[in-house]
Amino acid sequence: MKLCVALDLPTKEENLALIQKLKSEDVWLKVGLRSYIRDGEALLREIKSINPNFKIFLDLKIHDIPNTMADAAESMIGLGVDMFNVHASSGVKAMKMVMDRVNTFANPPIVLAVTALTSFDNASFEAIYKTPIKQKAVDFAKDAYISGLHGVVCSVYESLDIKAHTSNSFLTLTPGIRPFGESSNDQERVADLETAKAEHSDFIVVGRPIYHSSDPLGIVKKIIENI
Ligand code: C5P
Repeated sequence: MKLCVALDLPTKEENLALIQKLKSEDVWLKVGLRSYIRDGEALLREIKSINPNFKIFLDLKIHDIPNTMADAAESMIGLGVDMFNVHASSGVKAMKMVMDRVNTFANPPIVLAVTALTSFDNASFEAIYKTPIKQKAVDFAKDAYISGLHGVVCSVYESLDIKAHTSNSFLTLTPGIRPFGESSNDQERVADLETAKAEHSDFIVVGRPIYHSSDPLGIVKKIIENI
């Protein structure tokens, strides 16, 4: 299991200050919408200049027509990222087209599909998808699997089930982790580290419990010791 730290701070300087503190740690860094829209490719370059061994997950959750998604995937590969994601609800045709493009590159990045956002509770999810989260997350994961993606973004509580319906080697990346029982903030389906381990999560994403802590490096070290 790998730790992926969410860089969701209000300014580039604050993100870079956090990264500096973590510069000797074996972690992935997740650049999401807020940071990428504001700071763009320059942030990715600065991350690699702090430590070229940092792995970057570009979390833009793309969702568009198949050709636009494949073109966007190619642009993300051009940025040198190690992992990116698409929405599974974009459909099998779009995901296959993305993977056809991705697989034309040597050493392609990991490509994940978002199943159900962890901020959904059952009622609000069903209002949109007309299906319970647990079932729809597995359906989306199967679509991603047959489309040739490497894994999915899902809640911890769907990780084992998704692997059972796809493959043990199909990756799960699980946000909404509150490693030692911290506040859930706006997340609904949160879980601690022990649950993430029991559910065979391959990557855990942790944001606020790290960057809101007075000792981010201490928390990161404690998480790594426990995974
Ligand atoms: O601060 P926190 O640990 O809740 O951050 C979780 C991160 O994971 C955020 O950047 C959020 O956008 C992202 N994410 C999520 N749920 C998903 C996919 C991504 O919370 N299903």
